Amino acid sequence: ESYDMGGHDTYMHKEIVEQVDAVDRVLRGRIDDRFATVRLGGLNLDAREARTMRRVKILGCGSAYHAGQIGAQMIEELARIPADAEPASEFRYRNPVVEPDTLYIAVSQSGETYDTLAAVQELKRKGARVLGVVNVVGSAIARETDGGVYVHAGPEVCVVSTKCFTNTAVAFALLALHLGRIRDLSVADGKRIIEGLRKLPGQIAEIMEQEDHIATLAKEFADAKSMMFVGRVRGYPVAREASLKLKEISYIHAEAYPASELKHGPLALIEPATPTVAIVPRDDLLEKNRATLEEIKARSGRILAVAHEPQEKADDTIVVPRNEPELDPVLMGIPLQLLAYHTALALGRDIDKPRNLAKSVTVE
Ligand code: AGP
Repeated sequence: ESYDMGGHDTYMHKEIVEQVDAVDRVLRGRIDDRFATVRLGGLNLDAREARTMRRVKILGCGSAYHAGQIGAQMIEELARIPADAEPASEFRYRNPVVEPDTLYIAVSQSGETYDTLAAVQELKRKGARVLGVVNVVGSAIARETDGGVYVHAGPEVCVVSTKCFTNTAVAFALLALHLGRIRDLSVADGKRIIEGLRKLPGQIAEIMEQEDHIATLAKEFADAKSMMFVGRVRGYPVAREASLKLKEISYIHAEAYPASELKHGPLALIEPATPTVAIVPRDDLLEKNRATLEEIKARSGRILAVAHEPQEKADDTIVVPRNEPELDPVLMGIPLQLLAYHTALALGRDIDKPRNLAKSVTVE
């Protein structure tokens, strides 16, 4: 992959389409079928440390933070280690308790984000073990961390992150699988996740085939003053990232909430002029999510569902191929990148260089 536009009108579009190959690249040479695990050459974490760590704390900013939220859930689910993500920008301004048996992970596309780098440096000063999940090889965060996983998304030029976000989520799936197999994830579950990972590039290609449908929907959303994005558990970081992406390039105001929180306040915003995008995977929360769609419909709210099958209560559904539930966040975010892109296009925005934003924020 190069800096050439390759026939696309924007880098964002090129980078969305490139995800089929980018995901293939993050997997390449890493799957170990014999032991139903993955090999992560630069991780620098031995099996004893992996077994004895008691907590994982993930730090990043913006889209990297959202990818870290997905990663934290994957690590909890597959490796059963308590894990959470926090904006690096916040972490460094409080006086965090740095525990010796916590593994810290810094996430960054550029590897140069000042807030994330400063958090890493503060952690290192306090003797913490810090790994990186980074795209740019040899960047400051890659150099300052003790080891980690390269994301291998290739160069990302558009200010907003697309392929790097997706590849970061996949890199976390690899890390979670690796940690899980050292701890208590069974061979059968390891194999199940590996099969799911191998399906991803083909399934991303299937999502790309829906671009015309998504572009038609986006033209309708271009008139919205405000939009709501909701999801439960695995769907919530997907909703947050989709909301950020829409804001960044279309300048339409958007909120992201856990679907379970709607009734605790934001339901007051729902009316015909505020459409909702709902993440509705066919998992053990499907019925809860369907109840949320009913609540929104009862307030005459327009609904776009991103789901594994058409949703009766939604006005439209973008159907995403099924994979293993743990990998749902990887696929469900991709059509929403296209939705943000086509909404911004319909509004005539400068998609690759949105106002007020820089690709990486290297100052305080
Ligand atoms: C571009 O505006 C991104 N959406 C932004 O949030 C970015 O993810 C954030 O600034 C962190 O950048 P990094 O991944 O290079 O550290």
